[in-house]
Amino acid sequence: MDTVIQASGIEKIYGFGTGGLRVLNDVSLSIDGGSIVSIVGPSGAGKSTLLNCMGCLDGFQSGTMRILGRDVSGLSIEDLSGFRNRHLGFIFQLHNLLPEFTALENVMMPLLIRRVRQADARKKALALLERFNLSERTDHRPPELSGGECQRIAVARAIVGEPDIVLADEPTGSLDRENSRNLARILLDLGRENGTTIIIVTHDREIASMTERTISLVDGRIIDDIIVDSHGPEH
Ligand SMILES: Nc1ncnc2c1ncn2[C@@H]1O[C@H](COP(=O)(O)OP(=O)(O)OP(=O)(O)O)[C@@H](O)[C@H]1O
Ligand SMILES: [Mg+2]
Repeated sequence: MDTVIQASGIEKIYGFGTGGLRVLNDVSLSIDGGSIVSIVGPSGAGKSTLLNCMGCLDGFQSGTMRILGRDVSGLSIEDLSGFRNRHLGFIFQLHNLLPEFTALENVMMPLLIRRVRQADARKKALALLERFNLSERTDHRPPELSGGECQRIAVARAIVGEPDIVLADEPTGSLDRENSRNLARILLDLGRENGTTIIIVTHDREIASMTERTISLVDGRIIDDIIVDSHGPEH
């Protein structure tokens, strides 16, 4: 299977000199296309930082990051945003939907940015909203929707453009148990159906156990990387 993410020796430091805080310490990993991976670890371990580096939302001081075979540290800001729009989907703990746009418009947005025809974007967005039981809510704006509904819309927005990789940072962090499980199932099922690589940062053991591989991060280092196949866990 192709490697879609290849990180080698990533070092990320916030601040300078003796006041500098090393948040990622020689992190190397590779992720196969189509795999479903969770990243776990205590608060402050560097999970979001690592996810943001993989998603080309944040830079780092040394090491290399190849996404879909491309060394992304060499790309200009403009090329990076095009690259993200075309190949990556993001879901955050708080949905980050645009409050002044409707559910439908929010989901259409990644397609409109890449200049897909309005009618085509609308059709795709509506199909996803229907699948997520949101057909009745398409014209509502985020402030009029529940947390669970907003997160389902955020998932629809992340996958509408058929990205190669979806990066989710505690996507269920603001939800109750039932909504949380439901959202994780939707996301992971879609990933499996479409062969999308999904990387999900979570504090929730139950959600981590739904993935095929769990990477544990402590103090900016990978301390464990467990791949579960159908015969049980192995290192
Ligand atoms: N912009 C920043 N400037 C300085 N330090 C930062 C910045 N962003 C994060 N940090 C620090 O980097 C460390 C790692 O942060 P990160 O957000 O990656 O942790 P995390 O594992 O995602 O934690 P959580 O589970 O609480 O979300 C923390 O100590 C944090 O305080
Ligand atoms: Mg975090």
